[in-house]
Amino acid sequence: MFLHMKFSKVYAAYFSGTGTTEKMVNAIAAKLAEKFGVAVEKFDFTPPAVRTVVKEFESDALVVFGTPVIAGRVPNVLLKYLATVKGNGAVAVPVVLYGNRNFDDALIELRDILEADGFKPAAAAAFIGEHSFSKILAAGRPDAQDMEVANKFAADVAAKLEALEEVDEIIAVEGVEKPYRGYYQPRDRKGTPINILKVKPLTNDNCVNCGLCAKVCPMGSINPENVKEVVGICIKCCACVKKCPMGAKYYEDAGYLYHQTELEEGYARRAEPALFI
Ligand SMILES: Cc1cc2nc3c(=O)[nH]c(=O)nc-3n(C[C@H](O)[C@H](O)[C@H](O)COP(=O)(O)O)c2cc1C
Ligand code: SF4
Ligand code: SF4
Repeated sequence: MFLHMKFSKVYAAYFSGTGTTEKMVNAIAAKLAEKFGVAVEKFDFTPPAVRTVVKEFESDALVVFGTPVIAGRVPNVLLKYLATVKGNGAVAVPVVLYGNRNFDDALIELRDILEADGFKPAAAAAFIGEHSFSKILAAGRPDAQDMEVANKFAADVAAKLEALEEVDEIIAVEGVEKPYRGYYQPRDRKGTPINILKVKPLTNDNCVNCGLCAKVCPMGSINPENVKEVVGICIKCCACVKKCPMGAKYYEDAGYLYHQTELEEGYARRAEPALFI
């Protein structure tokens, strides 16, 4: 078949505290790159320093762009930065990873952000990743079954793009168009909102001061001189909790722990990826 659209490279662009978004975006990008016979370039904007520089994409690039779902939306702390990214007409594939509850309006919001940045969002997907707060909710996902779906998704996206001369229609996705629904609000058993905004992880005596948590915190909020100290915003991404080799980071807040258990019990069913091509 004659190939219409051609790309100079495929980007795997992602923000990923615990690595589920990273894994999925890399897999989709790798498959797309194989299909188009070009290389993958990674753009990991998890480290705070990366987000201090304006990122421009080439107009002939294909950009797989992923973020986790936080409270049913694109992570609020990324919005200012995301508005500065320049798409220059590149074709984008927005991807969100969510922890088995729901992606609500996160995918539509990410699609709209990328469109406003000057990308052409041509396909999109919501996949499931092990929940940041838990080791049992969607444990190990994206798993082998998800990766098969991702491979097929990428192949179908490539087939769509190959058949087009240009992307003239922005992909329709599940979610409420602007104004989006509000941020997901956890509640206790009486229906009273649980506020975890100010909750921060604590550090137990297993800590060996290796400094890894300070390095991986996407907000740069852990003091490297004293890793027990969370000096800035904590988005509860759990990078420090899950990446600490000593299991020394933990939460004690009663509201947080109630919400964690409620999610584990209420959303135990296997959610499946949602694909938009
Ligand atoms: C503060 C916070 C809020 C979250 N809100 C949701 C949500 O609304 N729905 C959901 O299914 N998962 C939610 N998650 C789970 C993450 O979206 C999920 O675990 C994702 O795979 C994490 O991506 P990462 O591994 O790239 O960090 C939330 C996670 C955090 C840290
Ligand atoms: S990663 Fe764990 S062991 Fe290393 S400094 Fe942080 S809390 Fe301590
Ligand atoms: S301190 Fe908060 S924001 Fe930083 S890695 Fe830990 S959970 Fe994530």
